[in-house]
Amino acid sequence: MPASTTTLHPISPPVEGLPATSSGSAMAPLELLLKYDRPVPRYTSYPTAAAFSAAVGADAMDRQLATPANAPLSLYVHVPFCRHACWYCGCNRITTQLGSTVVAPYLRALGRELELISARMPQRRRLAQLHWGGGTPNYLNNSELTQLWELIAQHFDLEPDLEASIEVNPELVDREQIQTLRRLGFNRISFGIQDADPQVQAAVNRVVPVDQLRRVMGWIREVDFRSVNVDLICGLPLQTPERFQTTLELVRELRPDRISLFSFAYLPEQLPMQRQITAADLPDQRQRLTMLENANRLLLRCGYDAIGMDHYALSTDSLAIAARQGSLHRNFQGYTTGGELELLGVGPTAISQFRHLLAQNHRDLKSYYQALEQGELPVERGLEVRDQEVLERRALIQALMCQFAVNLPLAEFQTELADLQALAADGLLQLEQRNGRLEVNVTREGRWLIRTIAAVFDPLQRLQASGSRLV
Ligand SMILES: C[S@@+](CC[C@H](N)C(=O)[O-])C[C@H]1O[C@@H](n2cnc3c(N)ncnc32)[C@H](O)[C@@H]1O
Ligand code: SF4
Repeated sequence: MPASTTTLHPISPPVEGLPATSSGSAMAPLELLLKYDRPVPRYTSYPTAAAFSAAVGADAMDRQLATPANAPLSLYVHVPFCRHACWYCGCNRITTQLGSTVVAPYLRALGRELELISARMPQRRRLAQLHWGGGTPNYLNNSELTQLWELIAQHFDLEPDLEASIEVNPELVDREQIQTLRRLGFNRISFGIQDADPQVQAAVNRVVPVDQLRRVMGWIREVDFRSVNVDLICGLPLQTPERFQTTLELVRELRPDRISLFSFAYLPEQLPMQRQITAADLPDQRQRLTMLENANRLLLRCGYDAIGMDHYALSTDSLAIAARQGSLHRNFQGYTTGGELELLGVGPTAISQFRHLLAQNHRDLKSYYQALEQGELPVERGLEVRDQEVLERRALIQALMCQFAVNLPLAEFQTELADLQALAADGLLQLEQRNGRLEVNVTREGRWLIRTIAAVFDPLQRLQASGSRLV
């Protein structure tokens, strides 16, 4: 997923009145989803990337890295290249057939970025989490994948229980590559299915036959990854509830540990490639909702827990367990189980996330290379967060998104109260006032609208809605 904008997503800790079982969440009735369908941020950070400014750049990152710290880190590595363009794609990617010709300079640049980072840190740091996203990380051949892994190991100590995950395009992958990834140390893998129906695949210029998808899952299972995720998109051209059933049946058969069920973000104004899609072919909102509802019903019946709005995990998977135990966390990569780790992002558009600093690298590959050639960290924009009130809002939004419950001092949240009461009247929240405090519990139906609920606590959203639509 794009590291910058569209990152992805959870269940709850035991909340009074809600059984913390694997039964998952009931979906909000269609009418409610339609009623609340407006653009809202995904809250992979607060404040969101929309608040970043060019006034915060490499200097701020220099200072941050120079701050002594000992805790293990999470590292995100962006690999922007793709062999061909899928027309729906909103990720930050570069379509090229040049292979190693573009990869070699890219690996040199990543090496340079890692050197600059290490040089600024007072001590060598450990990595507890590593994620390669894109674009298409498996655009790299086996030797390049190995080089990149070794590059990272030169700069960081990899913890013995490192959680290492990678996104792969199933069209490009073969058995040997899967074996290489596992041997290097990746223990989590994700691949995009999007839709299994040949007509839908043709309409978005991403044709991966079902047999290849089955083979890929078979190769992954042979080498025992800890967890396998698949991506699906709901709302693609020519999708209908009947056709989408083919995709759902395939998912039932493949039984991945996790499923990301994205709602298609159709933004042809901002993403020119999406103009290749015939708008008249897009399913309407009701069809989309029916597909989401069908998916939700089937997945819950098959042993998955609903983890927030667009993620599912087998109830035995660590994400579902963390959700039940109330130990989920959320960062630019979406929901994670690793606690509140500082996140370092390398590669174009990658975002680094510290308590007091959010910083994003240059989007444009040329500018990214230029900064590195000048010996500078390639930060394009960012945000420093020092204001106590903003930090408190962040903690609140984080608790809502991950624990689905907050307890508020009533006197300080009078502005929000009317909105919360309206959401409660629609069955999305349970409110209880006691001793000057307001206990807010998100209902199972409310979890589908968790972004809308979180937005109540975001003053910027009260002024101007922004983000992506819910359905
Ligand atoms: C970086 S890609 C995954 C790895 C690999 N490139 C692939 O395509 O299989 C991230 C995921 O973002 C999702 N995605 C991309 N564009 C989207 C859009 N416009 N709306 C919703 N989801 C989108 C797709 O499900 C895609 O698999
Ligand atoms: S391969 Fe993945 S990142 Fe590349 S265009 Fe397709 S969906 Fe986007």
